[in-house]
Amino acid sequence: MKYVPEPFRIKTVEPIKMTTRKYREQAIKEAGYNTFLLRSEDVFIDLLTDSGTSAMSDAQWAALQLGDEAYAGSKNFYDLEKTVQDVFGYKYFVPTHQGRAAEHIMSKLLIKEGSCIPGNMYFTTTRLHQELAGGRFVDVIIDEAHDPSNPHPFKGNVDINKMQKLVDEVGADRIPYISYETCVNMAGGQPISIANLKELRNFCDKYGIKIMLDNTRTVENAYFIQQREKGYADKSVKDIVKEICSYTDGCTCSSKKDCLVNIGGFLAMNDEDFFVEAKAQVVIYEGLHTYGGMSGRDMAALAQGIREAVANDDYIKYRVEQTNYFGELLTQADVPHVIPHGGHAIFLDAKRFLPDIDQEQFPALALTAAIYVETGVRAMERGNVSAGRDPETGENRRPKLELVRLTMPRRVYTQSHIDYAAEGIIKLYQNRDQLRGFRFVFEPKQLRFFQARFEPV
Ligand SMILES: Cc1ncc(COP(=O)(O)O)c(C=O)c1O
Repeated sequence: MKYVPEPFRIKTVEPIKMTTRKYREQAIKEAGYNTFLLRSEDVFIDLLTDSGTSAMSDAQWAALQLGDEAYAGSKNFYDLEKTVQDVFGYKYFVPTHQGRAAEHIMSKLLIKEGSCIPGNMYFTTTRLHQELAGGRFVDVIIDEAHDPSNPHPFKGNVDINKMQKLVDEVGADRIPYISYETCVNMAGGQPISIANLKELRNFCDKYGIKIMLDNTRTVENAYFIQQREKGYADKSVKDIVKEICSYTDGCTCSSKKDCLVNIGGFLAMNDEDFFVEAKAQVVIYEGLHTYGGMSGRDMAALAQGIREAVANDDYIKYRVEQTNYFGELLTQADVPHVIPHGGHAIFLDAKRFLPDIDQEQFPALALTAAIYVETGVRAMERGNVSAGRDPETGENRRPKLELVRLTMPRRVYTQSHIDYAAEGIIKLYQNRDQLRGFRFVFEPKQLRFFQARFEPV
């Protein structure tokens, strides 16, 4: 079995509660069978998300003590600005409290009523901000990304023919930018290749379309490029990260993932006019442009987190290979899941795991609830519930991918936690005939997956 030992030792521990099946049956019922509504203290191993769940290093905790909490001009802002410029290479930087706040500001500034925004698959908050700004999201990811069994090494890539088709249909002037995500979350954490990005750059230059990077998981993507793309084996992850960003016009970033902090985000760009407008917006929605919704100490921890993520390749190798180890255990037991394994999570394929539950009865949701009851592990539904309803027809979107995301927090769990989680899921797969579908008892209008409640059919 291929695994990489943790390149750190444990200095502080946080006890976690072990519960009985009976206890968990009651807890999930009270949560309306939605794992977002479980109390964290009722969870044994929390694989809901890698967002804001990282363990910080001793150096980050020390940095917190150096927070300059001045309202204006905090020294931590200048350090963070310089770190973002050094690591990602963009000229201008605007802090926000998390990723969706950066998406909000970018969408308000770049999208007009009737705009089309192509993207390599949707992300929930990203698409919603595009729609709220009057735009329409158009999926231009390669077809392979919608097939959970396809082993394509760069399933995050954009299909340039789909871009051409969109330009021909609506005209380039209605396409302000393409939203280009690294390690595409909803596709299973699948990377993009530099070759694809270069091709896209040429295409976009021809039509005057910006490339705005969703930079949330670029460090993980850079590791995949190092491992899989010809000509990159001898380059450091740090250099590859910078190269990715160099082909784009700017980025939004949720710092709660690759950047190893519990809260934070930013918008960055090379265009000065866009920067000036973004600074004007950040004061309205987030806070002064030298803190943008973060405290001085948060900015200090973030700057240190960014530096650690790319300091050497040991951390990122361990991080991605730990996820792969989890996937390999499931592969050996024939549990259906997305391949190749993503960087931040293993995604179970609920359509193949539970072929008898119709998508209108939310098989991925049924599986998340059952995993919790079986193991105390919390996972996330990434299927028909997350996809929401088509705003025009009102029907459930019924996405091709009906997935359960088992997401690895960074530097938090050990190999034995993974062994335990995999064993429970394998047992559940062997008893899958006993699982049933669900229906809504409460359905919020937007981002329904966060707060919806269900009952068994
Ligand atoms: C790819 C991607 N983009 C944007 C976001 C939104 O970031 P945040 O949760 O910090 O608002 C996320 C969060 O999960 C994400 O995975």
